[in-house]
Amino acid sequence: MTVSAEPFAQKYGPYALVAGGSYGLGAAFAEGIARRGVNLVIVARNKDALNTTAARIRETHGVDVKTIVADLADVDNVKKRVSALSVEIGLFVYDAAFVPIGPFAEATEDQLAAAAAVNVRAPLLLTKFFATPMITRGRGGIVLMSSLAGGQGSPNLATYAATKAFNTILAEGLWKELSPLGVDVLVCTAGAIMTPGYEQAENVKPAPGTLPPVTVAETTLDALGNGPVVVPGAVNKIGRFMMTRLLSRRAAIGIMSKNTGGLS
Ligand SMILES: NC(=O)c1ccc[n+]([C@@H]2O[C@H](COP(=O)([O-])OP(=O)(O)OC[C@H]3O[C@@H](n4cnc5c(N)ncnc54)[C@H](OP(=O)(O)O)[C@@H]3O)[C@@H](O)[C@H]2O)c1
Repeated sequence: MTVSAEPFAQKYGPYALVAGGSYGLGAAFAEGIARRGVNLVIVARNKDALNTTAARIRETHGVDVKTIVADLADVDNVKKRVSALSVEIGLFVYDAAFVPIGPFAEATEDQLAAAAAVNVRAPLLLTKFFATPMITRGRGGIVLMSSLAGGQGSPNLATYAATKAFNTILAEGLWKELSPLGVDVLVCTAGAIMTPGYEQAENVKPAPGTLPPVTVAETTLDALGNGPVVVPGAVNKIGRFMMTRLLSRRAAIGIMSKNTGGLS
Protein backbone atom coordinates (compact mmCIF):
# COMPACT_ATOMS: atom_id res chain seq x y z
CA MET A 1 0.00 0.00 0.00
CA THR A 2 1.28 3.48 -0.79
CA VAL A 3 1.23 5.28 2.49
CA SER A 4 2.43 8.80 1.85
CA ALA A 5 1.26 11.26 -0.75
CA GLU A 6 4.78 12.69 -0.84
CA PRO A 7 7.51 10.73 -2.62
CA PHE A 8 9.76 8.88 -0.19
CA ALA A 9 12.92 10.91 -0.96
CA GLN A 10 11.10 14.22 -0.56
CA LYS A 11 9.63 13.24 2.79
CA TYR A 12 12.61 11.34 4.26
CA GLY A 13 15.69 12.75 2.44
CA PRO A 14 18.19 14.01 1.74
CA TYR A 15 20.06 11.58 4.07
CA ALA A 16 18.96 8.59 6.15
CA LEU A 17 21.05 7.21 8.99
CA VAL A 18 21.00 3.46 9.57
CA ALA A 19 22.43 2.55 12.98
CA GLY A 20 23.82 -0.94 12.36
CA GLY A 21 23.80 -0.80 8.57
CA SER A 22 26.75 -2.94 7.49
CA TYR A 23 25.24 -6.43 7.07
CA GLY A 24 22.09 -8.48 7.56
CA LEU A 25 18.87 -6.57 8.11
CA GLY A 26 20.66 -3.24 8.57
CA ALA A 27 22.30 -3.54 5.13
CA ALA A 28 18.92 -4.49 3.65
CA PHE A 29 17.45 -1.30 5.15
CA ALA A 30 20.30 0.73 3.67
CA GLU A 31 19.79 -0.88 0.22
CA GLY A 32 16.04 -0.27 0.34
CA ILE A 33 16.48 3.36 1.33
CA ALA A 34 19.09 3.94 -1.42
CA ARG A 35 16.74 2.31 -3.94
CA ARG A 36 14.19 4.97 -2.95
CA GLY A 37 16.70 7.71 -3.83
CA VAL A 38 17.87 8.79 -0.37
CA ASN A 39 21.57 9.24 0.53
CA LEU A 40 22.94 7.35 3.51
CA VAL A 41 25.01 7.48 6.65
CA ILE A 42 25.64 3.96 7.94
CA VAL A 43 27.07 3.20 11.36
CA ALA A 44 28.70 -0.02 12.61
CA ARG A 45 31.84 -1.19 14.40
CA ASN A 46 33.57 -3.26 11.73
CA LYS A 47 35.20 -0.89 9.23
CA ASP A 48 35.74 -3.42 6.45
CA ALA A 49 32.14 -4.65 6.39
CA LEU A 50 30.91 -1.06 6.50
CA ASN A 51 33.13 0.02 3.60
CA THR A 52 32.18 -3.02 1.50
CA THR A 53 28.46 -2.33 1.95
CA ALA A 54 28.90 1.40 1.31
CA ALA A 55 30.82 0.75 -1.94
CA ARG A 56 28.20 -1.75 -3.15
CA ILE A 57 25.33 0.66 -2.50
CA ARG A 58 27.10 3.63 -4.14
CA GLU A 59 27.84 1.50 -7.20
CA THR A 60 24.34 -0.01 -7.46
CA HIS A 61 22.16 2.99 -6.59
CA GLY A 62 24.32 6.06 -7.31
CA VAL A 63 23.60 7.70 -3.95
CA ASP A 64 26.14 9.18 -1.54
CA VAL A 65 27.00 6.80 1.31
CA LYS A 66 28.97 8.08 4.30
CA THR A 67 30.25 5.72 6.98
CA ILE A 68 30.83 6.09 10.71
CA VAL A 69 32.89 3.41 12.43
CA ALA A 70 31.62 3.57 16.00
CA ASP A 71 30.08 1.59 18.84
CA LEU A 72 26.47 2.66 19.35
CA ALA A 73 26.93 2.12 23.08
CA ASP A 74 28.90 5.40 23.02
CA VAL A 75 26.05 7.71 22.06
CA ASP A 76 27.97 10.96 22.61
CA ASN A 77 30.66 9.87 20.15
CA VAL A 78 28.04 8.88 17.55
CA LYS A 79 26.27 12.25 17.93
CA LYS A 80 29.59 14.11 17.57
CA ARG A 81 30.53 12.13 14.45
CA VAL A 82 27.11 12.70 12.87
CA SER A 83 27.24 16.45 13.59
CA ALA A 84 30.69 16.63 11.96
CA LEU A 85 29.19 15.36 8.68
CA SER A 86 26.88 18.42 8.44
CA VAL A 87 24.14 16.55 6.60
CA GLU A 88 20.39 16.71 7.12
CA ILE A 89 19.06 13.40 8.42
CA GLY A 90 15.43 12.97 7.33
CA LEU A 91 15.14 9.30 8.28
CA PHE A 92 16.58 7.44 11.26
CA VAL A 93 16.57 3.63 11.37
CA TYR A 94 17.84 1.92 14.52
CA ASP A 95 18.68 -1.69 13.62
CA ALA A 96 21.57 -2.77 15.86
CA ALA A 97 20.99 -4.97 18.89
CA PHE A 98 22.95 -6.87 21.48
CA VAL A 99 21.41 -10.25 22.26
CA PRO A 100 22.47 -11.95 25.48
CA ILE A 101 21.27 -15.53 25.01
CA GLY A 102 20.95 -18.09 27.80
CA PRO A 103 19.94 -18.40 31.43
CA PHE A 104 19.70 -15.09 33.32
CA ALA A 105 21.62 -16.71 36.16
CA GLU A 106 24.65 -17.06 33.87
CA ALA A 107 24.51 -13.58 32.31
CA THR A 108 27.28 -11.20 33.36
CA GLU A 109 26.62 -7.63 34.45
CA ASP A 110 28.62 -6.48 31.42
CA GLN A 111 26.28 -8.35 29.09
CA LEU A 112 23.19 -6.90 30.76
CA ALA A 113 24.67 -3.39 30.65
CA ALA A 114 25.53 -3.82 26.95
CA ALA A 115 21.94 -4.87 26.18
CA ALA A 116 20.62 -1.80 27.99
CA ALA A 117 23.16 0.48 26.26
CA VAL A 118 22.76 -0.78 22.68
CA ASN A 119 19.06 -1.75 22.71
CA VAL A 120 17.55 0.91 25.00
CA ARG A 121 19.80 3.90 25.77
CA ALA A 122 21.11 4.37 22.22
CA PRO A 123 17.78 4.16 20.35
CA LEU A 124 16.17 6.42 22.96
CA LEU A 125 18.83 9.15 22.94
CA LEU A 126 19.44 8.99 19.19
CA THR A 127 15.70 9.20 18.54
CA LYS A 128 15.68 12.39 20.61
CA PHE A 129 18.77 13.66 18.73
CA PHE A 130 17.29 13.09 15.26
CA ALA A 131 13.62 13.83 16.07
CA THR A 132 14.33 17.35 17.33
CA PRO A 133 15.41 18.84 13.96
CA MET A 134 12.78 16.73 12.16
CA ILE A 135 10.09 18.36 14.31
CA THR A 136 11.51 21.81 13.49
CA ARG A 137 11.41 20.97 9.77
CA GLY A 138 7.93 19.44 10.06
CA ARG A 139 8.95 16.25 8.26
CA GLY A 140 10.92 13.06 8.77
CA GLY A 141 10.77 9.39 9.71
CA ILE A 142 11.96 7.14 12.54
CA VAL A 143 12.05 3.32 12.44
CA LEU A 144 12.82 1.28 15.55
CA MET A 145 13.36 -2.48 15.47
CA SER A 146 11.47 -4.74 17.82
CA SER A 147 10.76 -8.44 17.88
CA LEU A 148 7.96 -10.93 18.50
CA ALA A 149 10.09 -11.91 21.51
CA GLY A 150 9.18 -8.52 23.02
CA GLY A 151 5.43 -9.26 23.08
CA GLN A 152 5.65 -11.34 26.25
CA GLY A 153 8.27 -12.68 28.63
CA SER A 154 10.76 -14.87 26.74
CA PRO A 155 12.74 -17.30 28.96
CA ASN A 156 16.49 -17.42 28.24
CA LEU A 157 16.05 -14.25 26.19
CA ALA A 158 14.39 -12.29 29.01
CA THR A 159 16.65 -9.22 28.91
CA TYR A 160 16.67 -8.94 25.12
CA ALA A 161 12.88 -9.39 24.98
CA ALA A 162 12.40 -6.67 27.59
CA THR A 163 14.58 -4.24 25.62
CA LYS A 164 12.53 -4.95 22.51
CA ALA A 165 9.29 -4.29 24.42
CA PHE A 166 10.78 -0.90 25.35
CA ASN A 167 11.28 -0.05 21.67
CA THR A 168 7.73 -1.08 20.79
CA ILE A 169 6.14 1.06 23.49
CA LEU A 170 8.45 4.01 22.82
CA ALA A 171 7.63 3.98 19.09
CA GLU A 172 3.88 3.62 19.70
CA GLY A 173 3.83 6.68 21.96
CA LEU A 174 6.00 8.73 19.62
CA TRP A 175 3.91 7.70 16.62
CA LYS A 176 0.88 9.41 18.13
CA GLU A 177 2.86 12.36 19.49
CA LEU A 178 4.98 13.17 16.44
CA SER A 179 2.67 12.36 13.55
CA PRO A 180 0.75 15.69 13.86
CA LEU A 181 4.19 17.37 13.73
CA GLY A 182 5.02 15.72 10.39
CA VAL A 183 7.33 12.99 11.71
CA ASP A 184 6.35 9.37 10.95
CA VAL A 185 7.35 6.81 13.60
CA LEU A 186 7.13 3.07 13.03
CA VAL A 187 8.20 0.00 14.96
CA CYS A 188 8.93 -3.23 13.11
CA THR A 189 7.98 -6.22 15.23
CA ALA A 190 9.82 -8.93 13.35
CA GLY A 191 9.77 -12.70 13.70
CA ALA A 192 12.88 -14.67 12.84
CA ILE A 193 15.05 -13.14 10.11
CA MET A 194 17.78 -15.07 8.30
CA THR A 195 20.60 -12.67 9.27
CA PRO A 196 24.20 -13.63 10.11
CA GLY A 197 23.42 -12.94 13.80
CA TYR A 198 20.46 -15.33 13.76
CA GLU A 199 22.29 -18.03 11.83
CA GLN A 200 25.28 -17.92 14.19
CA ALA A 201 23.23 -18.26 17.40
CA GLU A 202 23.58 -21.73 18.90
CA ASN A 203 20.62 -24.03 19.63
CA VAL A 204 18.19 -21.84 17.69
CA LYS A 205 15.36 -23.96 16.31
CA PRO A 206 14.25 -23.04 12.76
CA ALA A 207 11.22 -20.82 13.41
CA PRO A 208 8.09 -20.92 11.26
CA GLY A 209 7.71 -17.80 9.15
CA THR A 210 11.44 -17.00 9.02
CA LEU A 211 12.00 -14.24 6.45
CA PRO A 212 14.97 -12.99 4.43
CA PRO A 213 16.25 -9.53 5.49
CA VAL A 214 15.16 -7.90 2.23
CA THR A 215 11.51 -8.85 2.85
CA VAL A 216 11.55 -7.40 6.36
CA ALA A 217 13.27 -4.19 5.23
CA GLU A 218 11.01 -3.63 2.22
CA THR A 219 7.79 -4.36 4.15
CA THR A 220 8.91 -1.93 6.85
CA LEU A 221 9.95 0.88 4.51
CA ASP A 222 6.66 0.51 2.60
CA ALA A 223 4.75 0.80 5.89
CA LEU A 224 6.49 4.00 7.00
CA GLY A 225 3.74 6.61 7.40
CA ASN A 226 1.23 3.88 8.23
CA GLY A 227 2.33 3.14 11.82
CA PRO A 228 2.52 2.54 14.63
CA VAL A 229 3.46 -1.14 14.12
CA VAL A 230 4.38 -3.34 11.17
CA VAL A 231 4.67 -7.13 11.49
CA PRO A 232 6.29 -8.54 8.33
CA GLY A 233 4.94 -11.91 7.15
CA ALA A 234 1.51 -13.54 7.48
CA VAL A 235 2.69 -16.27 9.90
CA ASN A 236 4.22 -13.64 12.19
CA LYS A 237 1.08 -11.47 12.08
CA ILE A 238 -1.03 -14.44 13.20
CA GLY A 239 1.56 -15.38 15.82
CA ARG A 240 1.63 -11.89 17.30
CA PHE A 241 -2.18 -11.68 17.38
CA MET A 242 -2.39 -15.01 19.20
CA MET A 243 0.38 -14.27 21.66
CA THR A 244 -0.60 -10.72 22.58
CA ARG A 245 -4.39 -10.68 22.11
CA LEU A 246 -5.87 -14.17 22.39
CA LEU A 247 -3.79 -16.09 24.92
CA SER A 248 -3.35 -15.46 28.62
CA ARG A 249 0.08 -14.09 29.58
CA ARG A 250 0.94 -17.43 31.20
CA ALA A 251 0.02 -19.36 28.06
CA ALA A 252 1.96 -16.96 25.79
CA ILE A 253 5.08 -17.17 27.98
CA GLY A 254 4.72 -20.96 28.01
CA ILE A 255 4.63 -21.12 24.21
CA MET A 256 7.57 -18.76 23.91
CA SER A 257 9.45 -20.88 26.41
CA LYS A 258 9.10 -23.92 24.12
CA ASN A 259 11.08 -21.96 21.49
CA THR A 260 13.54 -20.03 23.64
CA GLY A 261 13.77 -22.08 26.84
CA GLY A 262 16.56 -24.28 25.49
CA LEU A 263 18.74 -21.41 24.30
CA SER A 264 22.20 -21.29 25.81
N1 LIG B 1 17.59 -11.77 13.33
C1 LIG B 1 16.39 -12.05 13.82
O1 LIG B 1 15.90 -13.18 13.79
C2 LIG B 1 15.57 -10.95 14.45
C3 LIG B 1 14.26 -11.21 14.84
C4 LIG B 1 13.50 -10.18 15.37
C5 LIG B 1 14.03 -8.91 15.51
N2 LIG B 1 15.32 -8.69 15.13
C6 LIG B 1 15.87 -7.35 15.29
O2 LIG B 1 16.39 -6.91 14.06
C7 LIG B 1 17.54 -6.10 14.27
C8 LIG B 1 18.75 -6.62 13.49
O3 LIG B 1 18.93 -7.97 13.70
P1 LIG B 1 20.28 -8.79 13.71
O4 LIG B 1 20.70 -8.94 15.11
O5 LIG B 1 20.02 -10.02 12.97
O6 LIG B 1 21.38 -7.85 13.11
P2 LIG B 1 21.79 -7.43 11.62
O7 LIG B 1 20.88 -6.44 11.06
O8 LIG B 1 22.05 -8.65 10.81
O9 LIG B 1 23.22 -6.72 11.90
C9 LIG B 1 23.47 -5.92 12.99
C10 LIG B 1 24.12 -4.62 12.51
O10 LIG B 1 24.34 -3.78 13.65
C11 LIG B 1 25.74 -3.52 13.80
N3 LIG B 1 25.99 -3.45 15.23
C12 LIG B 1 25.72 -4.39 16.17
N4 LIG B 1 26.08 -3.95 17.39
C13 LIG B 1 26.58 -2.69 17.22
C14 LIG B 1 27.13 -1.72 18.09
N5 LIG B 1 27.24 -1.95 19.39
N6 LIG B 1 27.55 -0.54 17.56
C15 LIG B 1 27.46 -0.30 16.23
N7 LIG B 1 26.94 -1.19 15.36
C16 LIG B 1 26.52 -2.38 15.85
C17 LIG B 1 26.43 -4.68 13.06
O11 LIG B 1 27.75 -4.33 12.64
P3 LIG B 1 29.05 -4.53 13.59
O12 LIG B 1 28.90 -5.89 14.21
O13 LIG B 1 30.21 -4.39 12.68
O14 LIG B 1 29.01 -3.43 14.59
C18 LIG B 1 25.50 -4.83 11.87
O15 LIG B 1 25.71 -3.81 10.93
C19 LIG B 1 17.78 -6.09 15.78
O16 LIG B 1 17.23 -4.91 16.32
C20 LIG B 1 17.02 -7.30 16.28
O17 LIG B 1 16.56 -7.12 17.60
C21 LIG B 1 16.11 -9.67 14.60
